[in-house]
Formats: sequence, structure tokens, C-alpha cells
Amino acid sequence: MFYTLKALVVLAVCIFHKAYGENEGWVEYLGDNNEEFHDIPLQWEAGSRVPNWLYGTYVRNGPGQHSFGSNRRQMNNWLDGFAKLHSFKFIGDKVLFSGRMLESGNYLKSVEKGELVPQLTLNAFIDEENEWNLLEEGQIMGGMVEGTAFDNFNPMVWRFGAKDINNGMYMAVTDAPAALQFNISDLSTMGVHLPHRVPFPTTGCAHPLREPGTDNTLWFMTKIGLTGKDFVEIQRYRPSDAFESPEVIATFEPAKTSLVHSFSVTEDYFVLFMYPLDADPLEIISKKFHVMEALSWKENTDTDVYVINRNTGDVRHLTTQPMYSLHHANAYQINKDELVVDLCERSPNALRDYLTVDKLFNPPETTDWKHVKSDEFSRWTINMANNTVTKSLFVDSINNTFVNMLDFPIINENYRGKPYCYLYGDSLIDYTRTAIVKKDLCNNGQDKVWYRENHYVSETWFFPTPGESLPEDDGILFTLVFDGELKQSYIMLMDAVTLESIAVSYLPVNVPWSAHGYLFPEAQF
Ligand SMILES: [Fe+2]
Repeated sequence: MFYTLKALVVLAVCIFHKAYGENEGWVEYLGDNNEEFHDIPLQWEAGSRVPNWLYGTYVRNGPGQHSFGSNRRQMNNWLDGFAKLHSFKFIGDKVLFSGRMLESGNYLKSVEKGELVPQLTLNAFIDEENEWNLLEEGQIMGGMVEGTAFDNFNPMVWRFGAKDINNGMYMAVTDAPAALQFNISDLSTMGVHLPHRVPFPTTGCAHPLREPGTDNTLWFMTKIGLTGKDFVEIQRYRPSDAFESPEVIATFEPAKTSLVHSFSVTEDYFVLFMYPLDADPLEIISKKFHVMEALSWKENTDTDVYVINRNTGDVRHLTTQPMYSLHHANAYQINKDELVVDLCERSPNALRDYLTVDKLFNPPETTDWKHVKSDEFSRWTINMANNTVTKSLFVDSINNTFVNMLDFPIINENYRGKPYCYLYGDSLIDYTRTAIVKKDLCNNGQDKVWYRENHYVSETWFFPTPGESLPEDDGILFTLVFDGELKQSYIMLMDAVTLESIAVSYLPVNVPWSAHGYLFPEAQF
């Protein structure tokens, strides 16, 4: 009897290890899913504590399809996967779940052909023998001129236009100078909006922001002027502005061009960091139209910092040490001369190297929980009176590696451009050790971490509790997680004060690795 019991225990331990080993379900998390479905009512697990004041539609953008059947032209950068939207319509404690691929021109042509058609991609193909031929390169060149060579609108969504579902323009946006409009209810593709072709736009920005205290959108584009010089155009979209006709706040010729993915706003300023990292257009052509293959890090070259006064259009240029960041977290003014900007720093090669298939599909089996200095969250103080930009780091109040290595920054949007204390983010160590972090920026010792082995977290969203004069972190944090052990996605609500999970609902359709999302509170159904 004893030996039978012992054998059963050993068997159970073996099964447990097999079922719950390192990186369990990670490959399944990366699986394509182009399935279209609409308004599936979700069921919260027993014991969930769901507030009845959650309203609006949260839309998440991320790659949904990487392959069209052919073995040729397999993508090597996961972000080259074609964008799929998932939406969660919150109606009090009820949630409706939808998913649909964005149907851009190049996506539909690729589906029809069963293979990727000629277009710009981020990285070269897995097999270099599959490279574009001369004729195809000519087609891509033509597409670049007319603005159709890149229409995979990963990884963000935004509303231009009025704050109502009938007049708002819900857009999928990327770092290209264009946007794809979709229907906020059924996620159907409504068409691509292009800016005017003269002066020729070269980049947009994947992370527009609201102008504090207004419903305006702030954005920027890089363009080539008639003299052939690059210039930056700082734009404001009022709710009545068409996509093609923003108000231009300021233009300036930067000291150097740069790959810039996001920016900050304060009460009066628009803040742009232009890093010593760029992809030269001629180099992109020579690299067979794979943008990230043309990345060039200019060693020992300063980062240019531009502070644009949105009231006057004045542009102030400062410089600081070489660095790179994908995501600004937030910024605010200490006084008229002094600003604080919080950045999630990244290795300059992260865009090209981090999401390549060989690395992504082969995460380390074990991790040493090493702190990566180049990926540290940092604060930059801009002093325009002294002409300085200085860096400082944050205290890790709980001695946890995740705490100061966060990205995908989310805040209480009521504090956008204002002094704030709490930042929520994802911390990703060795790809598969993923945690949600609440960072206390005011050093009150309130750093918190939510981590579960073999559960893969994604970006969060902060719902502030309705009411007046509530604490900044009084609210609910929403996120999407993949349970690697069950190989199933779920949504989770967390108490944003304690970071405790308070509600979980497993999804009937899995959501593959995704990037960013946004809540549209006016989109109530
Ligand atoms: Fe981003």
C-alpha cells in the first residue's frame, strides 16, 4: 500500500513537472489567430469582485497573423505580423468580447495570393533566398511614393475627431505617417487615411496623446521639405479637424533624424527626445526594404531634446547623453523652466533584435533574474534656465528585479502631463518571466509586483474609480494574460492600490502576444 502510494506521488510529481515546466505554453501564446468573432458575453469566475461602474470599449492591437500558407517570405520580426484588433465592451459588470483582423490593402492581397506581397517590413525574411526580386523592389518603391508600401497598422489605437461613436474616427496607428480607420463596434476596416504627399511625410508616431485639459490630439510627423532637408511638424488635431488637416503648432529642422516612437506632454509643452538611432531611407532601400536592417546607432552622439511651447510655438533645443527609449511614461512641469520626463529606456537594438523569431521562440529555460541596466526606467530633469538635461534613477523599495525594469507604461490618464506618483507597467525578464509592476515614483515604499510562473502578462489599463478628490491610484487595473499551463487567455481586474487580482474571466478565443490598447469611454453599447 505504502509503495503504491509512493509510486502515485512520484508519478504525480513527474506529471506536475511535465505540465508545469519552464516556459510552459509560451509557444502556444505566440500562435496566430485570425478568427473573427463578435460580442461574445464573458463569464467571470466564481468569487470575482467586479465593480458595476466599468463602461466603454477597450481595444487592443497586436499581430494576429504571420503566415499566409506559403513557406516563402516567412517573417522574422514578430511585429511584422498583421494587426488584429480585440475589443472588450464593458457594460457595468458585463463584458462583450470581439476580435477581427484589420483588412489593409497589403493584408488582403497577401491573403488572396497565399504569400506576403511586396511591401516594407521591419526585418529581413528568415530565409534570405526569399528576398524581393528587382520587379518587386520597384513595386515597393512605387508604394513608398504613394504611401501604400507599409499598411500594417500595429501596434496602437487612437480616436481622432469628436468624442462620440458616430463622429469619432477610431484609428489603428503605427510609426508610419498614416492611420487606418475602423468601426468601433464591429472592428471592421473603414479605410486608410494618408496625409498630403507634399511635403513628403516619412514618419508618424505610434503614440499620440491628448492635450491636457482638452479633447485635442497631439501628434508629430517627420517630413522632407522642398529643399530636401528633414523637418519635424508638431501637430494638434482639434475634434473638428480632418485627418489630412491638423493645426501645425511648430516646425523645426532637427539636428539629426531619429527613430522616435513616443513623446511627452506637460501643461504647456510638447517634449521630444531624438535619440542617436536612425534608419536612413537610402540604407532601407539597400537593405531590400527591411527598415530595421538599416538601423544605425551613432556611438558617442548626444540625444537631442526638444521642448516645444504649445502656446507660442517656440522650440527649445537641448542635448543629453546618448540613450534610447521606446516609451515615454509621463512628464510634468516643476516650474516654467524645469520639467520632468519619465522614460522606459531600452537597448538601441531592441526594435530590430528583441522580437526576432529565433529569440522569441527560444527563451532561456532558466533565468538568473539579472538587472539589465540598459532597460532601466529613468527620470530626466530638463532645466531650460541652466540648459541641462540630467538623469536620475528610482529606488527599488522592495528589492525585486522587476520593479525598475518596466515598460508598456500606463498611468491614471487624469494625471497626464501633471505631477503624479503611480505608474503601472509590464516587466519582462528573459521573455517569459513577465510581471505587472506598480511603481511608486514618490518613494513612499509602495512598489508592488504581480507575478505568476508561466502566466504571460501584457499591457494594463487604469480605470479611475468615479468620484471627486479620490487618491490617484483609486481604481481598477485591467489586463490580458495568457495562462501557459491551461494554454488559454484570460482577462483580469486588479485592485490598483494593492495590485491584488479581484476578477478573472477565461476567454473562449485566445489572444496572441499583443502590444498596446486604449479605452474609449464614450463607446458604450
Ligand atoms: Fe509602443
